Amino acid sequence: ELEGFGEKLLKHNNKIFPYFATDLLKIKSFRTRSDDVFVIAYPKSGTTWTEEIVWLIQNNLDFEKASSVAHSDRVVFLEEKPLVQNDFFEPPRVFKSHLTFDYLPQNIEKNSKIIYVMRNPKDMLVSYFHFVKWIKGFSFVGEFSVILDHFIQNRIIYGNWCEHVNQFFENTKVLFLTFEDLLDSPIETIKKIACFLGKELTDDQTQKLVDFTSFKKMKKNSSFFFQKADDSKQQNQLDLFFRKGEIGDWINYFNEEMSSKLEDKLSKELNPSIQIKYFSSK
Ligand code: PPS
Repeated sequence: ELEGFGEKLLKHNNKIFPYFATDLLKIKSFRTRSDDVFVIAYPKSGTTWTEEIVWLIQNNLDFEKASSVAHSDRVVFLEEKPLVQNDFFEPPRVFKSHLTFDYLPQNIEKNSKIIYVMRNPKDMLVSYFHFVKWIKGFSFVGEFSVILDHFIQNRIIYGNWCEHVNQFFENTKVLFLTFEDLLDSPIETIKKIACFLGKELTDDQTQKLVDFTSFKKMKKNSSFFFQKADDSKQQNQLDLFFRKGEIGDWINYFNEEMSSKLEDKLSKELNPSIQIKYFSSK
């Protein structure tokens, strides 16, 4: 049991996993295809946003389908959907996961395309804090400082953040993106994703994709409705999931001491190239 969390979380090899990842160990034997795309990120780092962009690129910008078919039926969340059959949905397949290579399908690196998204961990943690308070399966009750301490001591769902990020950054087959790039330079970042997927987008198509996947539009897209909630509660649920979509909300949660605690961890554990490229003060 983890301080502040009202519900039991799963544990494997000393690592904590969400309550719904009951088929965790089956994922390893899942058979991938060469046209599969995996969007991977630490939770609350822009996973859903990137999945939507990738799904649209893979499906020739089918905005109609992206508005009418539930997102969770278009993009399969590996930890949540039991992968009993390999052919439960048609290619081109897009998957989402927060797992590291030791839990992902064993031939994924050789076989499929992997896109990784990193977000400034301070903003990620604020987003995570709100998420675990809101979702019943986590039922977190406590201050933000408790979440920060969990993060520092790696008692956090999906484990050590630095190890997570390092692993994907160090793999040369992975397209490594950031939430901040998506927000600050959406056109360039989307073009980079398309190029990685072997597709070409016109300027007009890219602009349409940027607009469709903007925070405001995604927040209103009923394809993100929560399957378990009543209709009357859906917009409220969407407002909780698509909470702020900004850079820098951390300033409202971290004091100087908390900031330096987190930065100290990064300076010790994060790959120095990531530190220089993304976290050196400009
Ligand atoms: S999850 O549950 O782990 O898959 O969450 P994830 O999708 O990784 O992250 C959720 C945060 O991403 C923000 N988000 C966006 N920001 C900007 N633009 C778009 N289109 C967008 N879509 C999702 C979402 O609001 C969460 O961040 P916070 O800071 O809580 O708002």
